[in-house]
Amino acid sequence: MSNAAQLGLLIGQAIGIICAKTILTQIFRLYVDLSFVELIMKTVIASLLAVAAALSALAIADESIDERLKPAGELCMAGDECAAAVVEVAASSGPRSGDDVYGSKCATCHATGAAGAPKLGDAGAWAPRVGQGMDILYAHALEGFNGMPAKGLCFDCSDDEIKAAVDHMVENSK
Ligand code: HEC
Repeated sequence: MSNAAQLGLLIGQAIGIICAKTILTQIFRLYVDLSFVELIMKTVIASLLAVAAALSALAIADESIDERLKPAGELCMAGDECAAAVVEVAASSGPRSGDDVYGSKCATCHATGAAGAPKLGDAGAWAPRVGQGMDILYAHALEGFNGMPAKGLCFDCSDDEIKAAVDHMVENSK
């Protein structure tokens, strides 16, 4: 828990204790001056104050959670630790291999057979598809075909990268 939240809870507790003391004092006074209605009023007010204090402590705790979540949305500046990964990808640009594209994009469906996708390595499922000719396979991979989305949802893939991924799947499904 953050310092702000702890402080908030402490303040809440302190107010709570003060309120409890007030209530006890009032109960004691009840025996002295018997102003029962007054006692009830003060008890209610004291309880409300205690609840308000507890709620404000919670609000402070909430705020500190927001604070902790914040870094996720912050900008990643060049030179920052978080920017290192981006630089790495940029540095290794150039066409990705069919293996890479398959592994990062196509495997989502083609490793599991999700949505009826022919699985990598399933020769029986691939043979009739390969039988249509590679041009049809490429076209279906690029433009989409039934449950197969255009470019297999890899929007930053070049046509050649998609074709390489098709080759990779066909090669490994004989
Ligand atoms: C969202 C799931 C999904 C993703 C991601 C996906 N595919 Fe598919 N793919 C399918 C489905 C479903 C089919 C079967 C479509 C049919 O035959 O009705 C299919 C079929 C294919 C076929 C055979 C087409 C034919 O003519 O029989 C090829 C080739 C193919 N996908 C390539 C790829 C490539 C390359 C990628 C990655 C760049 C990829 N797919 C990513 C779901 C997916």
